[in-house]
Amino acid sequence: MLLGVNIDHVATVREARKSFEPDLITAAVLAQLGGADGITVHLRQDRRHIKEQDIIILKTSLSVPLNVEISSAGTMLDFICNIRPDKVCLVPENPSEITTEGGLNLKNKKVFQQTAKAIKKLQQNEIEVSLFIEPEKDLIDLSYKINADAVEINTKEYSECETISQIEKTYKILLETVDYAVRKKNLIVNMGHGLTYDNVTAIAQIESITELNIGHSIVAKSMFYGIEEAVKMMRKKIDKA
Ligand code: PXP
Repeated sequence: MLLGVNIDHVATVREARKSFEPDLITAAVLAQLGGADGITVHLRQDRRHIKEQDIIILKTSLSVPLNVEISSAGTMLDFICNIRPDKVCLVPENPSEITTEGGLNLKNKKVFQQTAKAIKKLQQNEIEVSLFIEPEKDLIDLSYKINADAVEINTKEYSECETISQIEKTYKILLETVDYAVRKKNLIVNMGHGLTYDNVTAIAQIESITELNIGHSIVAKSMFYGIEEAVKMMRKKIDKA
């Protein structure tokens, strides 16, 4: 299973002082050395952490695929189509949110049409497109209908479970959704959001998942162990699962 490392919060620390450190590219290179199979960044509409310049430099510096999360509602699409990262994950964006709050509401006609338009444009630029969605078969059907290459299933609810019965219930839904997406719709399935060193094992046991995207927990661990070691520790957890 592949590990995509989200390094947004390295830039969050940099932007806390509007400084040049910690250097994002060094973080990306060290994450690669630690075993990251991909680097993910989220270009938010308010540019609170990642900036256009970061994406331009990352695109030319990495030896693993670059995955950029964006909202199709903003003005980022033209920029992204020019830069041509390997992958784009389309996410909804609410300006007041601390982090992405949920998946795309593809059942809404406006969101569906806007997403369809964005997918077409990105794919014309040879960018692989995934859609961040909640674990629901209807959303898998809509993602397939709209011609997405992949889906990234939101693990936020799973990661916030407080009781064993909640964990069992949400895990079962994740299993059924992944199985449906892979076997019936032939979609690439990734997962992410809220995954940590403590909760990743059960998710990493779902063999048909292609990639896990993990950010906050790895960057937090890197404050004590360094980012290369923090990525290695997560890699080990996933490989042992
Ligand atoms: N996937 C998506 C679509 C996200 O928006 C985020 C958060 O930026 C992640 C994965 C990573 O989540 P976390 O930082 O909780 O590991």
